[in-house]
Amino acid sequence: MVDVILGLQWGDEGKGKIVDFFAKDYDLIARFQGGPNAGHTLYVGDKKVVLHQIPSGIFHEEKTNLIGNGVVLDAVTLRKECDAVAALGVNYKKNLYISERTHLILPTHRALDKASEQSKGEEKIGSTLKGIGPTYMDKTGRNGLRVGDLLDKNFTTQYIKLRLKHQRLLDNFGFHEDITAWEEEFFEAVEFLRTFKIVNGEYFLNEKLALGQRVLAEGAQGSMLDVDFGTFPFVTSSNTITAGVCSGLGVAPQKIKEVIGITKAYCTRVGGGPFPTELLDETGDYLRNAGNEFGSTTGRPRRCGWIDGIALQFACMINGVTQLVMTKADILDGLDELKVCNGYKIDGEEKNFIPFQMNKVNIEPQYQSLEGWKTDISAISNFESMPPAMKTYIDYLNNLIKVPVKYISNGPGREQIVVV
Ligand code: GDP
Ligand code: IMO
Ligand code: MG
Repeated sequence: MVDVILGLQWGDEGKGKIVDFFAKDYDLIARFQGGPNAGHTLYVGDKKVVLHQIPSGIFHEEKTNLIGNGVVLDAVTLRKECDAVAALGVNYKKNLYISERTHLILPTHRALDKASEQSKGEEKIGSTLKGIGPTYMDKTGRNGLRVGDLLDKNFTTQYIKLRLKHQRLLDNFGFHEDITAWEEEFFEAVEFLRTFKIVNGEYFLNEKLALGQRVLAEGAQGSMLDVDFGTFPFVTSSNTITAGVCSGLGVAPQKIKEVIGITKAYCTRVGGGPFPTELLDETGDYLRNAGNEFGSTTGRPRRCGWIDGIALQFACMINGVTQLVMTKADILDGLDELKVCNGYKIDGEEKNFIPFQMNKVNIEPQYQSLEGWKTDISAISNFESMPPAMKTYIDYLNNLIKVPVKYISNGPGREQIVVV
């Protein structure tokens, strides 16, 4: 069976930590979409690690990790990540596999990402500029190069052909930066990538399922950044939702069992685009500072706000979420009052759904106010010992979202998680 862990908001819900926590119960941990735009933080002892493309199961010695076909892979970033995990004693050559169908991010994809963002002016997405959009465009446009192509002797010729196409696009954008250094790095990293275990990911994974092994699919970004169902055009370029597991790994839908949705106890977003419950006041600043809400990939300050029950209902619906994990509950410890968005007024009318274009309407979030617990919960290890106001907060969310919160994360550490 395959279980899925994914984010229900606009990313950075704490997926890295939670996948690392659950990985012990699985045989294979697989990333199914996204690329180095992701930054998944976890702690190994007191060492902080940020993974971008390597699945967050890599620190469990006996577990296999797979970068799936739905991912877009940057060889240069992968090499740096591998060095970082090797420094912590991980034998990635033994445990990490890459699907031959995974598309490669080329230096010109990064340049195109930058050129495209620059051309958007005020309407820019706030992309991480890792080349994600252009690489997925080459995939759907049937141009891209894949990891399996590295093993073809004509790889360099194929690369040069595609590079010429990209150059014409860059010329149209009026983009003239020198990317020679990026290309040198890329070709060095390509040599490194060739030494990996490059496999047919769909057979690799399904053969394990046939043997009764357990697979955990790790999402990147969040459901509200999904290219179909997110706040388009302020989204990423992949399907971040459960459906992406099927196409991003070659898994049949009936093989998927638990869908574990992660939400922060509040909400954040990095980059442009609508965010109805955003707080542009001192409470927003408080959440940013207390939660250390600065991007794991880009270092940008994250926008902060209250938890959004309407967006969570929507995310649970499209993902088929069976249980919730609430992270960063400890960040609310210092607040007297907590708010939960339980409705939207859209252009003055009560409408409790996610509209077609969030950025083209006026959304006034409606709130239920709840009492803060004003207790340091970071060392609490069982739910019974949680303060009553925290239990009320969880009850309120369970009733609103109609999916139970099964785990509460109360700190960044590996063991800081409480079963409800
Ligand atoms: P991801 O992209 O979903 O993996 O999340 P990020 O790693 O980008 O951001 C989550 C941040 O919150 C990281 O710095 C984590 O170390 C941290 N974190 C995760 N869970 C908790 C928690 O329960 N409490 C606190 N205080 N920090 C957490
Ligand atoms: P993790 O996996 C938060 C955002 C960017 C931008 C938009 C498009 O760590 O949760 P892209 O680079 O994909 O073209 O950017 O999506 N974004 C993320 N925000 N967490 C992420 O990943 C993100 N990956 C992309 O900020 O608004
Ligand atoms: Mg992140």
